[in-house]
Amino acid sequence: MFYLTTAIDYTNGAPHLGHAYEKVLADVIIRYRRLRGEEAYYLTGVDQHGQKVQQSADQEGVHPATFVKRTTRQFLNLWEKLGVHYDGWAETTDPRHQACVQGILSDLQHCGQLYKSTHCGHYSVRQEQFLQDRDRDEAGNFGPQWGEVTLIEEENWYFRLSEHTPWLKEFIEKHPDVITPAFRRTELLNALERSSGTDLCISRPKERLHWGIELPFDADFVTYVWFDALINYISFAGYHAAPGSGLPDFAKLWDLSVRRPTHLIGKDILVPAHGIYWLCMLHAMGFADAHLPRLLVHGFWNSKGGDKLSKSTGNIVDPDALADKFGVDAVRYYLVRDIVTGKDSDFDLERLIMLYNTELANELGNLCNRALNMSQRFTAGILRHGGPPSADDLTLQHSLTESTAAYQAAMDECDVSHGLEAISRHVVHCNGYAERMKPWALNKDPANQERLASVLYHLAESVAHAAVLLSPILPDAAAKLASQLKLPSLTTLKLADLCWGLLPDGHAIGQPKPVFPRLVVEGA
Ligand code: MSP
Repeated sequence: MFYLTTAIDYTNGAPHLGHAYEKVLADVIIRYRRLRGEEAYYLTGVDQHGQKVQQSADQEGVHPATFVKRTTRQFLNLWEKLGVHYDGWAETTDPRHQACVQGILSDLQHCGQLYKSTHCGHYSVRQEQFLQDRDRDEAGNFGPQWGEVTLIEEENWYFRLSEHTPWLKEFIEKHPDVITPAFRRTELLNALERSSGTDLCISRPKERLHWGIELPFDADFVTYVWFDALINYISFAGYHAAPGSGLPDFAKLWDLSVRRPTHLIGKDILVPAHGIYWLCMLHAMGFADAHLPRLLVHGFWNSKGGDKLSKSTGNIVDPDALADKFGVDAVRYYLVRDIVTGKDSDFDLERLIMLYNTELANELGNLCNRALNMSQRFTAGILRHGGPPSADDLTLQHSLTESTAAYQAAMDECDVSHGLEAISRHVVHCNGYAERMKPWALNKDPANQERLASVLYHLAESVAHAAVLLSPILPDAAAKLASQLKLPSLTTLKLADLCWGLLPDGHAIGQPKPVFPRLVVEGA
């Protein structure tokens, strides 16, 4: 089983482009694994507790439960609009999740992993954590990333994180597959080198924060939002679920026979949340090394010039409005095309339009138009394999084999951008082939009928393969192409079916209709 989760999004505001990127990327990866013939499960959801939510709700004068209900809807609507199909949906206010978190807390308390203590220190409201001296900048101040910082003295519950960090260091060193890309693993190891033997504060007094999961052994406290949220990856996978909960079978999802479960997260939440807290939490719960997840860390979409996309800088890009204006295909395509998984990229509307118009509307659109329209006009929509392949035909077939292999190699590594580049290479090759073979000229002389059939077949077969390869990224557009080509349903076609001859001799195609209309921008 390929079990993939994403970070769960904060519900203290509306979804932004970074959220959309991660969920679309996960959707593409899951669809690709299914195309490979694997069983796959995608869990995503929302992080509904914590101080940020409580503050936003207070500002509006509504109860946090009412507030998160509304913001959660915005996420659900966006995923529906963007064609993000998940199998499991995690909401941290779900009583099944709360029961799981409380069960884990009780177990950890019983085995002496939790203790109560008083701490006086600087507290960041924005990041909802106590700060250490190492969090100060060179001038000795706490930088703007921490927001408002106040000095507080408080009694709280702590998790004996420091007991697990020596194990964690060794574990990360021994298992390079656990953190990808590799430079993020180095970053985590460096952070572990610097981290002193501090434990993790896992509670917040109710007088300061009431919006959270109550500690099962101390009703004056709620659980720290990160401790609560991280558990979603197992609670919604059925870990310690009550019979009849409707949650999946944990052993089936957390199946280690092929690979570790994958958590897809952004670079900002590797250290310390996932790379340190989460792995140590699982270790404390008794998960063996072989049962720990893999962290796949993606980069950030920034605004042009490298600035952070954030509400505070006013640089927010609304993915919902973007999809309304440019269409879902253009948004999905751009979000995974113009960024290399693991690296950052600058969001650039001109590039969104340019990449869609060049690679989809012009190149692929042109190829579809040639393959389907000319087949309808010249051979009544019937595809024939034609005579023996010419040298040009063989080169085209070779280009397809090479592009498919490159696509597969890239997609296996979740490198969607290079996967798409590989498809584009073949599409460009096909358009060059059409220019040279000139089917429109061949059609003028009945003596060329066999050659004409061969050329049209090569173009149509290429479109059929491209539709299958594109289906994880652009499922709707690929389904439209498949239907025009009268291919079997894309859900039944697998990567292994992609050998030359997917379209049988004598295959009848349907009526063509443009799938990638050019984006026309006002004023351009
Ligand atoms: N709620 C926590 C995660 C808890 S997971 C147990 C959180 N939420 S978030 O809403 O701030 O971020 C959700 C995801 O979106 C994270 O993986 C984060 O890295 C990602 N992104 C947030 N901004 C982003 C960009 N500008 N670009 C790409 N991804 C970004 O952290």
